[in-house]
Amino acid sequence: MRLDHIAVAVNNLEEAMRFYKETLGLECITVETVEEQGVKVAKLELGNTHIELLEPLGPDTPVGKYLAKKGPGLHHICIGTDNIDSELQKLKHDGVKLIDEKPKIGANGASIAFVHPQSTGGVLLELSQPVDECH
Ligand code: CO
Repeated sequence: MRLDHIAVAVNNLEEAMRFYKETLGLECITVETVEEQGVKVAKLELGNTHIELLEPLGPDTPVGKYLAKKGPGLHHICIGTDNIDSELQKLKHDGVKLIDEKPKIGANGASIAFVHPQSTGGVLLELSQPVDECH
């Protein structure tokens, strides 16, 4: 497993980018709209991991509701895995509270699933398995 990314919820992507890209000097690799998650994602390169800035597509999306409740800030951390199905099975078997019992499609077509903060010490945790590039 590896740290895949850290995600920050923001109200305005352009505005947040001014700090991360221009002031901090990180390189923005992609900006992608993920309709299924109701979010626009900017991915910034940081060593061998990434920072993702999340701007909600509307107030009724998960990130939109998060912003309304808590304001901008750290939204989740993501651990990359090569076998999300077996990780989820193992967690479920161990009684971990899962938000997604089955993987769904996230940015870049990756298979993703969220683990509830109640089981992780208060941090929303995402598991992500990248698209198999051989297919
Ligand atoms: Co994420």
